[in-house]
Amino acid sequence: MLHSGPVQPFYFLGNSTGPWLIKTSTAIIGAPIPEAERVTVSGGIHSPLQEENQWIFKGVVSNHRYTNRDEKESLVAVQEGLNRPQATCAAMILIKKSEAWWELPQDERRAILEQQSEHIKTGMKYLPAIARKLYHSRDLGESIDFITWFEFAPEHEKDFNALVAELRKTREWEFVEREIDIRMVKETV
Ligand code: HEM
Repeated sequence: MLHSGPVQPFYFLGNSTGPWLIKTSTAIIGAPIPEAERVTVSGGIHSPLQEENQWIFKGVVSNHRYTNRDEKESLVAVQEGLNRPQATCAAMILIKKSEAWWELPQDERRAILEQQSEHIKTGMKYLPAIARKLYHSRDLGESIDFITWFEFAPEHEKDFNALVAELRKTREWEFVEREIDIRMVKETV
């Protein structure tokens, strides 16, 4: 039997060599991060610390916390993966939620995320055009709680902008105390 070992974090590196060229980096809520030219996402294969990086964030892929069976099945049926050739635009959105959020019991967090804010229902409308992946950073002692990564074709950028605008108006976002929105295009050096 194979031993899977400890969970390997993904590293997100702000550098000058990565395949994703940064177009904009905007602090929507709270302090910005240092400027960088490009981004590399590294699945732990090469050591990020050997290079010069303007910033490093790390996160792990974890189990779902909120998604119910129907939602999970709907997501699996329609969502598409990362690295589609036509999806040359990416967004990396760093999120930190407040202590008030983390002090809530799980059922109340779910009620805010879905019953009150319709995060999943709203997000579903944008699939499969937008591909997404969620990384958890809070338990790794990072300064942010989540790294969210999205990929889409240039013609869907306006849809992605509409989606983030919708989410930012929700009750869930009242618990967001830091949000950095980084937009990129794929352009290998
Ligand atoms: C593309 C459409 C989207 C869909 C289908 C979607 C769906 C989901 C789902 C199903 C979860 C819950 C995962 C779980 O069960 O643990 C989730 C969590 C999350 N999503 Fe989205 N989402 C979308 C877009 C976005 C966007 C645009 C942002 C950022 C602006 C975002 C930020 C987050 C964050 C931070 C979490 C973690 C929330 C927490 O655990 O407190 N999502 N999303």
